[in-house]
Amino acid sequence: MTSDTHPRSGPKRTPLTGEEDAQLESRDRRTFFRRSAVVAGGALTAGGLATATRGAPLAVPPTEHEMGRPIEATAYGMPSKFEKNVVRRRSDVFVNRQNWSDWSMTPLQYQLGVTTPNGLIFERHHAGTPDIDPATHKLVIHGMVRQPLVFTMDDLMRYPAVSRFHFHECSGNGLTDWLKNASTTVQQTHGLLSGAQWTGIPLSWLLEEAGVQPGGKWLLFEGADGSSHTRSVPLDKALDDVLIVYGANGEMLRPENGYPLRAFVPGWEGNVSVKWLRRIKVADEPWHFRSETARYTDPMPEGKWRKFSFTMECKSVITRPSGGMKLARGPVEIQGFAWSGNGHITAVDVSVDGGRNWHEAQVEGPVLDKMLTRFRFKWNWDGSPATIQSRAMDSTGYVQPTVAELQKARAIVGFVQHHNGIQPWSISSAGEVKNAIA
Ligand code: MTE
Repeated sequence: MTSDTHPRSGPKRTPLTGEEDAQLESRDRRTFFRRSAVVAGGALTAGGLATATRGAPLAVPPTEHEMGRPIEATAYGMPSKFEKNVVRRRSDVFVNRQNWSDWSMTPLQYQLGVTTPNGLIFERHHAGTPDIDPATHKLVIHGMVRQPLVFTMDDLMRYPAVSRFHFHECSGNGLTDWLKNASTTVQQTHGLLSGAQWTGIPLSWLLEEAGVQPGGKWLLFEGADGSSHTRSVPLDKALDDVLIVYGANGEMLRPENGYPLRAFVPGWEGNVSVKWLRRIKVADEPWHFRSETARYTDPMPEGKWRKFSFTMECKSVITRPSGGMKLARGPVEIQGFAWSGNGHITAVDVSVDGGRNWHEAQVEGPVLDKMLTRFRFKWNWDGSPATIQSRAMDSTGYVQPTVAELQKARAIVGFVQHHNGIQPWSISSAGEVKNAIA
């Protein structure tokens, strides 16, 4: 719950009105295309980046001469076979001997827009994915309540529901890349991250029905998986914005993301969003479970370990161009995500010279609380070596720190969680983009 003590001051900014924003965007676009025209040898095409043509018609493709695949009577649609590389990947930095307590990562470099498709939402579980039948699954609320309650899935589906957009990030995101360039791609450095529209019931409604007794201050969430994953969450947060979720992005949760029911704790480390949720207990103090003592704690410089550092602080990363990609000279739109567990994004700056100079990027709406926000920055790469990086600022005025700034407040030893440091990518004169965190 505490925050590190790196600077909260930052560049002063005045928010743009919608009209100013639109004018700026259209001016930016014109300059960008004008630059592309110069690069393309004077031919200003509609998109600015297309190859110039003398007007010869396009050859008619074979697909226009034949019938396509007929509609199947019933089917769940899948991505094109040409998108086979857009998949979750297990980390190849740590190669586990088993895949039950393991994780797979979201391919952020291919994500378009701010919602992560359900089949690409990263997975992190401690004992594999259980197959839970919603017909038999139950959730109980007990402990310091006036009336203990048990809900079937049918009961829960009858409640009024809400749908909210939020990011979800594992506190272990980035833990291999503090002081060395262990990972190659942004999928490996930042892929324990997703953005989705979550559907379910505000926990406050269910707690109101159960009636929390005076003195009740903490909740226990327990999962029905092989790890019986359990966390303590303060009642204040639960009453504020915690959801009991059964849907993501318009459909029921996928088994690996908690089907049929999970807790969803907006802006907080993913570990507290207990999947396959079966039990909520109210008590007057936290439980100090394994995931709050032996794991998911932060080493501090004086040798102590910080517990309950729930919030995922303000962070951003450039996803295109990013590690493993090859850049061509000329105009490039630098793209990425910014997010904060403390509120919404107010500004993102981009540097193309390793942090010496910063330029304001365009922040694309909708800018939502505790949700991924897109930023874009139009740049013309002249072929000389460069280091690109982004830094975000949130509605509390907090500015995303560098690793060096974080090091002043935290001890970077062993398995260090909560890495929200600035991520630089270097570009060589051959256009190769590489991780430059250290
Ligand atoms: N809930 C249960 N029951 N079991 C687990 O192993 N892992 C936690 C959390 N909830 C876990 C769990 C961790 S560490 C994270 S980061 C998130 O689930 C991951 O959520 P996702 O797999 O839906 O992305």
